[in-house]
Amino acid sequence: MSQAEPVHSPKHRVGDLRIFGGSPAFIEKLHVGRPNVGNSQRFLERVNDILERKWLTNNGPYVDEFERRVVQLTGVQHCIAICNATIALEIAIRALGLKGEVIVPSFTFVATPHALQWQEITPVFCDIDSQTHTIDPNEIEKLLTPRTRGIIAVNLWSYSCDIAKLEEIAARRSLKLLFDSAHAFGCSYQGRMIGGFGNAEVFSFHATKFLNTFEGGAIVTNDDDLARATRLMQNFGFTSYDQIACVGTNGKMSEISAAMGLTNLESMDDFIAVNRRHHKQYEEELTGFPGVSMLFTDEKEKGNYQYVVLEFDASKTIVTRDELLQILHQENVLARRYFYPGCHRMEPYRASGLSLPETERVANRVLSLPTGTSITPADISTICGIIRLVVTNGGEISERLRDERR
Ligand SMILES: Cc1ncc(COP(=O)(O)O)c(C=O)c1O
Repeated sequence: MSQAEPVHSPKHRVGDLRIFGGSPAFIEKLHVGRPNVGNSQRFLERVNDILERKWLTNNGPYVDEFERRVVQLTGVQHCIAICNATIALEIAIRALGLKGEVIVPSFTFVATPHALQWQEITPVFCDIDSQTHTIDPNEIEKLLTPRTRGIIAVNLWSYSCDIAKLEEIAARRSLKLLFDSAHAFGCSYQGRMIGGFGNAEVFSFHATKFLNTFEGGAIVTNDDDLARATRLMQNFGFTSYDQIACVGTNGKMSEISAAMGLTNLESMDDFIAVNRRHHKQYEEELTGFPGVSMLFTDEKEKGNYQYVVLEFDASKTIVTRDELLQILHQENVLARRYFYPGCHRMEPYRASGLSLPETERVANRVLSLPTGTSITPADISTICGIIRLVVTNGGEISERLRDERR
């Protein structure tokens, strides 16, 4: 049974919507990114092991095993488990020796540019491709200056960038290439698992990601020297008990996080199967409604399907994305705008007054819907029913909402 069982049958009339006086569709809130949790018994057994061993952190056996499992899964030579993806990005950026300017998409979670700015490296915001929402390689070329030292590309939603083109630009211009693959664990590009591209990649295992370690992340790379450098940096630069080789930080993953990661890896295929079924159901229930489109899935590649992303064209739906968002929230469906309004329009980056048309267009149109193991097919039908009701009565709803605002 769902955690958020519908309280009554799907809504048929505009007046059934909570925003116009009806009851909410769900008693409890449905979240985007509610954590998937594998076999809790197995997790608790591992917690007992940790407590008996009294080895809580500092490269314990579960962290070691977790790293080996990620290496097996991605086919990459090295995995360094880190306490979260933000610190992983910071460490990878530093270990790569990035300085000056680094090109980064604006349509990303703010951790990506923050990891640069934190080290006084200038993030140079680049526009995105309208289809994949990932960095547009053609736009990169226009932003290159003598100060450009690297590119951080983001494999977004579970779709990959145009990696071949990015690798070509990086090689031609002698730039470092780092992938923020926070969303893309378990995904592939041209049949090869994400993780082994560019100089290094970073995964996130935050609680909201389809595979979580409570908080967590990893740096993966095929570069032996880079792996050595990042491993040192994530543990203060220690080479032995009292020897320090370089400036480092504390980026270590704890044993309890690794225990959660190992437990969840045992259920990873099930999580993906659930996400995939949900994705299909959303697609089937929302196809054919003018102005509503779901982001494509490339069935030839492996995906984790952890984001259900809708794009709204308000010129067809009349009701705007933000009005729909407001309606869904009233129904206890906590759909999310993503990366709105774009990092280049957020403090502390907005001062430049930069305009990125595609980023702004997408940030004004996308909506992410709940999925994952906490959601049932009945929940999805109810959510889709609300969306269909709203878009097929867009004119009336929009007018009523605007009247109420007056
Ligand atoms: C694209 C992207 N990069 C980086 C991060 C940061 O990950 P973490 O929360 O593990 O630090 C996130 C988190 O959601 C993200 O979506």
